[in-house]
Amino acid sequence: MDALLDGIELQTGDTPRFAVIWMHGLGADGSDFVPVVPHLGLDDAPSIRFVFPNAPQIPVSCNGGYVMPAWYDIISLAPNAREVDAAGVRRSREAIRRLIERENQRGVPCERIFLAGFSQGGAIAYATKEGHTAKIAARLSLALRAAGIEVDPIDVSTAAPDFNLDSYDATLVCAPIHQEEYPPHMIGFARRHAEWLSAHPSAFVSVSLSALGEDDEDVEGLAQCVSEFAIATGWKPARVEHVAGALVFSQYPFFMRQVMKIIARQHGLPTTGDTDFTDYTRLEAFARDFATSIEARA
Ligand SMILES: Cc1cc2nc3c(=O)[nH]c(=O)nc-3n(C[C@H](O)[C@H](O)[C@H](O)COP(=O)(O)O)c2cc1C
Repeated sequence: MDALLDGIELQTGDTPRFAVIWMHGLGADGSDFVPVVPHLGLDDAPSIRFVFPNAPQIPVSCNGGYVMPAWYDIISLAPNAREVDAAGVRRSREAIRRLIERENQRGVPCERIFLAGFSQGGAIAYATKEGHTAKIAARLSLALRAAGIEVDPIDVSTAAPDFNLDSYDATLVCAPIHQEEYPPHMIGFARRHAEWLSAHPSAFVSVSLSALGEDDEDVEGLAQCVSEFAIATGWKPARVEHVAGALVFSQYPFFMRQVMKIIARQHGLPTTGDTDFTDYTRLEAFARDFATSIEARA
């Protein structure tokens, strides 16, 4: 899938200043959201190029292997064992990044490119950007290095299939909660390395909005997510650090933005703009404490 994805393009005027790359859902194609554009009230807006790519045609396991347009294979929808093809997610993410680069070459910089997506397309739009958990992992790395620990940050969604932890002394696993679950690629990683993680110094850094709440519902909800993670992976983290994440409305694809507005409203949080709720002082204190516990075992 190194070639540019084909699809439908339309422009609201000459020399577009903005671009929208809009990904359809499972089984649909690029034409799906084209009829929405005339209803967006863009008559007085600057010129926009809409790009509606077609997902590749692949067999979809949860649909009996039927070949259909899909951004990635869904291997299982079973409760507690949901599994998607992480390599497929990565391939589609790279394909969308190539479309973004093409917009850059056509004169539209990243800050004027919007990703939109429905269902699977929304998941790919979200996976295409660096998440808040990556920022938290970067801050943890800095704090651990400052404490004299050699650190090797790894994005498990792009790690080689034969990656192993044998050359490491300890591991911090960081993952966000999305719709009351940790990402499938993180569940797969923890499952593959459960034995190692259980036998070595390790901790789980869980990033969520519920970490902001102090009522029973939030606390029990988080405990439930961690417990389901432990059942799904076979790794029961000895130490779990709950870290408050972020709301980044500027980066959510269209449909996800609507869902996140509802979630934010329910929690009494802002429904516009970007807000970083992470307490970095507390995060760094956790990193120092983890560093001390590794050194104590060495
Ligand atoms: C689609 C989506 C679903 C989310 N679902 C939950 C949830 O069920 N519970 C929760 O506490 N936080 C939830 N959050 C909040 C995220 O955990 C928080 O925004 C975090 O910073 C996301 O990290 P990331 O950018 O690395 O994905 C959700 C966020 C998104 C975007």
